[in-house]
Amino acid sequence: MLDTQNLIHAADQARQKAYAPYSGFRVGAALLCRDGTVFTGCNIENASYPVSNCAERTALFTAVSEGYREFEALAVVSDSGDFTPPCGVCRQALSEFCGSDFIILMCSGSLSYRQTTLGTLLPFAFSLQLM
Ligand code: THU
Repeated sequence: MLDTQNLIHAADQARQKAYAPYSGFRVGAALLCRDGTVFTGCNIENASYPVSNCAERTALFTAVSEGYREFEALAVVSDSGDFTPPCGVCRQALSEFCGSDFIILMCSGSLSYRQTTLGTLLPFAFSLQLM
């Protein structure tokens, strides 16, 4: 059961653990599993910039590495005063495990958010079923 405020709060807490000395842009994500478990993640940058990892994939990979593969929703909070959408790479990463109805809460600060779905943000996701 999705408790939006709880998920956004968890993402905001994760944002405070971000390691972002190069961009100065901290991002936190909270991923709700179908059984109610929540995994969080932050962005983790690297002196070799492309090695950096986004908050959303940190949360997703943590969850999968703990044996979770069924997800319901994701909240994303950043330092921006605007609603924060997941980047294209993270959308594709999510599409490996999440269907088009997967809920994404793009937050502005820790209070307001826009709710959308993975299908809206990533129509025509690449899948091996296409091969
Ligand atoms: N970032 C995320 O963590 N998630 C996104 O969806 C977009 C960007 C991070 C990557 C980098 O550490 C910083 O934000 C600036 O791009």
